[in-house]
Amino acid sequence: MAKITYIEHNGTEHVVDVANGLTVMEGARDNGIPGIEADCGGACACSTCHVYVAPEWVEKLPAREDMEEDMLDFAYEPDPARSRLTCQIKVTDALDGLVVQMPEKQI
Ligand code: FES
Repeated sequence: MAKITYIEHNGTEHVVDVANGLTVMEGARDNGIPGIEADCGGACACSTCHVYVAPEWVEKLPAREDMEEDMLDFAYEPDPARSRLTCQIKVTDALDGLVVQMPEKQI
């Protein structure tokens, strides 16, 4: 279980507990948090689950796989250092305290 803070583009914060084994995208979806659309349902085929990871978390997350790297090219204003697709991040205890920020829009 990890407590994850999702920050909408307008600054609204949502702090929720997400069970291990779910993805960071599923944590947002299951809690009705706006700003992560996840059109492809988590198949790494859409880029609408894009977020910016808080700088202090960038190095703590597992590295991006090639497929995630490729899909991020289609995201809205990706940041080479901080952008991630939330459907590709599995929740574990190690993610407790994670902070992610949604982009202005999803495309
Ligand atoms: S939900 Fe489509 S890429 Fe993450």
